[in-house]
Amino acid sequence: MVIGVLTAGGDCPGLNAVTRAVVSRAISEHGMEVVGIRNGWDGLMAGDVRPLDRDDVRGILQRGGTILGTSRRDPYVHGQGYESVRETIEANGIDAVVVIGGDGTLRTALALHEEGLNVVGVPKTIDNDIAGTDMTFGFDTAVSIATDALDRIATTAESHNRIMVVEVMGRTKGWIATYAGIAAGADAILVPELEANLADVADTIRARHRRGRTYSIVVVAEGCTPPDGRQITSGVDAFGFDRLGGVGYVFGAKLERLTGFETRVTVLGHLQRGGSPTAFDRVLATRFGVAATDLAAAGRFGEMAALRGMEVVGVPLAEACADIRGVDPALLDVARTFFG
Ligand code: F6P
Repeated sequence: MVIGVLTAGGDCPGLNAVTRAVVSRAISEHGMEVVGIRNGWDGLMAGDVRPLDRDDVRGILQRGGTILGTSRRDPYVHGQGYESVRETIEANGIDAVVVIGGDGTLRTALALHEEGLNVVGVPKTIDNDIAGTDMTFGFDTAVSIATDALDRIATTAESHNRIMVVEVMGRTKGWIATYAGIAAGADAILVPELEANLADVADTIRARHRRGRTYSIVVVAEGCTPPDGRQITSGVDAFGFDRLGGVGYVFGAKLERLTGFETRVTVLGHLQRGGSPTAFDRVLATRFGVAATDLAAAGRFGEMAALRGMEVVGVPLAEACADIRGVDPALLDVARTFFG
């Protein structure tokens, strides 16, 4: 059996750990051949494929990025679906493809599966918003980076009696904002799941400063919508997704006006996606890679490796694609306990 592996969409710490696990498991446990597909779906459309053996994946477990390359190009947006990849599949004798990607990539994988391609998914995104799994790999690393940044911002905020607004990634859901906000003891957390009430946040901050606190930290997810209802974007990416970023500046200016306290804004951006994965993400990514390969070996195509509780199991891709998973309201309630 020949198994292909590709990484598509935005990169994320832990991608190399999955690739390494797929190659090692496929060769040592199942006697498969593995081919790496370059630059996501683009490589499958263009025939950019090369054999991968265990030597190719030595020393990559802790490396950020993806040795396979990635892109946001897609066979349905930039081609004719299965017809665009058929030649590469047939020419290389690929029996199944392990697709490591976020919500857009997994939806494409499901559509190709429905057209006859044997696929198995691995849920990847720092946003942690894929349905069907309790967690995606990359999220823990992003939260660690954001928490470290918030801790650092707190010490300079304290020196200057300032409000610090920190914008983190989170296209449609506020998982990073919520986790990092709780971990760093933020005074307000604004997530796309809930309408931002800046008047309430300003009241909380004023009350806090009356009690003698000299600074406040507000964490904002990039996908939050400003009061006028227009998201802050700078065009669209190759897949057609909005390029987000900048809502922190809108919220920061408003909070400064409402409170009268000097405010500074930091947008963490791609820092959150770069560098080495945490130990947790290395382990989760490795488990996902092993499970996805086992699913392919068992012929369980159209499924995705997923974390359920402490177990890694196979779930239908259709389940993962049916929804985008938002932050549990109970978690937001935990965060609120410490606001102000
Ligand atoms: O989907 C993951 C993500 O990191 C989002 O949080 C963010 O909005 C987006 O990717 C950024 O994508 P790009 O790297 O294409 O700018």
